[in-house]
Amino acid sequence: MTGNGPGEQFDLRTLDADATSLTGYEGRFDTVLDSVLYHCLDEEQRRLYATALHRATKPGALLNLLCFSDTTVDGPPAPLRVSAENRRTTLASAGWTVTDLRQSTISVVVSPDLATQFGHTVAVDEKGRTQTPAWAVRAHRREDL
Ligand SMILES: C[S@@+](CC[C@H](N)C(=O)[O-])C[C@H]1O[C@@H](n2cnc3c(N)ncnc32)[C@H](O)[C@@H]1O
Repeated sequence: MTGNGPGEQFDLRTLDADATSLTGYEGRFDTVLDSVLYHCLDEEQRRLYATALHRATKPGALLNLLCFSDTTVDGPPAPLRVSAENRRTTLASAGWTVTDLRQSTISVVVSPDLATQFGHTVAVDEKGRTQTPAWAVRAHRREDL
């Protein structure tokens, strides 16, 4: 995505590529939006992913990620829990500095069967969604790698 001021044109792309390699996209992007991918990856894939993002972005790039967290809110725990430390450490080792990390939520559709496994009533909205704890992370690309 490029352009971030009033009147500037945006060039927004979604990629059909393996996020752990991003081969062919070297130095291409100045902003990355990760909508709930990171927590789907295992530890080695997360490291490769963060490294691939560094390779695929330009100097000064910004990374925004939203993933499930290991924190709790008034509802079910997230299914794939990631600690804040995991994010910070994995991103730091791949050349990213976390500049903002805050608690957020992700809307998840839960089946009644799954809800009862949590042993308490799960509050759902009119579309059957519940709010699941998440991290909203902002990181900046370091240039020292
Ligand atoms: C939880 S879904 C999120 C989908 C979408 N971004 C959203 O916000 O609704 C995670 C997605 O990551 C994809 N995924 C998992 N591993 C991947 C990889 N190594 N490279 C690219 N995509 C991957 C899965 O196929 C799945 O579509």
